[in-house]
Amino acid sequence: MDIFSPINIKGKEIKNRIVFPPLVNFAWSETDGIAIPRHVAHYEERAKGGAGLIIVEATCINQQGRIFNYQLGAWSDDQIDGLSKITATCHKHGAVVLLQIHHAGLTTRKGVSEFAYGPSVDPENERSVELTIDQIHQIRDEFIAAAIRAEKAGFDGVELHGAHGYLLTQFASSAINRRTDEYGGTTENRLRLACEIIDGIKASTGKDFIIDYRLAACSPTLTDGIEIAQLLEKKGVDIIHASHGGEKGINAEVPAEFEFNSIVYMGTVIKKHVKVPVIVVNQIQTPERANKIISSGLADFVAIGRDMLTDAHWANKAKKGENIIYCIDCQPKCKRYVKATSCPLFSE
Ligand SMILES: Cc1cc2nc3c(=O)[nH]c(=O)nc-3n(C[C@H](O)[C@H](O)[C@H](O)COP(=O)(O)O)c2cc1C
Repeated sequence: MDIFSPINIKGKEIKNRIVFPPLVNFAWSETDGIAIPRHVAHYEERAKGGAGLIIVEATCINQQGRIFNYQLGAWSDDQIDGLSKITATCHKHGAVVLLQIHHAGLTTRKGVSEFAYGPSVDPENERSVELTIDQIHQIRDEFIAAAIRAEKAGFDGVELHGAHGYLLTQFASSAINRRTDEYGGTTENRLRLACEIIDGIKASTGKDFIIDYRLAACSPTLTDGIEIAQLLEKKGVDIIHASHGGEKGINAEVPAEFEFNSIVYMGTVIKKHVKVPVIVVNQIQTPERANKIISSGLADFVAIGRDMLTDAHWANKAKKGENIIYCIDCQPKCKRYVKATSCPLFSE
């Protein structure tokens, strides 16, 4: 088995193990959150370039939960048409395509919303407000409605953004969630919102609609990540995409002989504790390294983020043994976080 081995998920054939993970295109859409031709061309190129599974960037379920004002949205039926152009082109080139649905919670910026809503007040954030039960139910219903819109737009499924310190991570993490009602306390309670969203999506979408969960493998520790992954598996998620938990998560220590970073390591540990397919990600970069992970059974999928931004044809070039244009790893962080065109290798 290698990165080019196909795999079937919910009756959908994914032609290889190479995933283009969600990478938000800052400042491409207007405040209406509608996908524009530039988004379509961006995803078309990665689908043409051979990625088997494409996960479209963080797309917000309501306007108050955006990370910033110019982010894709799935809060209105007006957004379905633009999204359906992305799915049509990805399918044309043989990729399976998911939509990452998202709410930033406590990390919502001031320019987006006066208040930043989360499971509990964040003592370090004076704009933070604890969600009422009614507001939690509303957000649950908005996640479900976003998934229904994704299905209408032709997506093969959704990825719930439960990583990187956003709303679902905030609920799941005992370091952030200090509620004493049914949405806080035990792991089951902290995962109640995610589980209710999963139940709602299952009840209102087709039987072959994929539900992937981007997991904070350390929220706040790897032991929690394992427990949460097992609970999500029991709930019926189809894929777990293991990443980090944001600033409040504690990355696990990597054994000396392990060749990859702690985020990949945590994903491989999660893989040992669940039966559903697991995606690992972060600084995997080359086909050789990606193949090591898949051929040794450490994970089921490898996600290649920034290196597939700099070379949309990473997968096809890997297959043909051609030279790939690698990301040069700008410090202190990727320039695409500010503006896509700021990337020194931008060529779209
Ligand atoms: C510019 C940029 C935007 C990103 N946007 C998202 C996003 O929308 N959703 C998400 O879950 N992760 C996002 N990420 C994280 C990536 O999905 C990925 O986990 C990260 O880039 C590490 O993988 P890599 O080393 O292969 O790039 C983003 C990363 C970058 C650099």
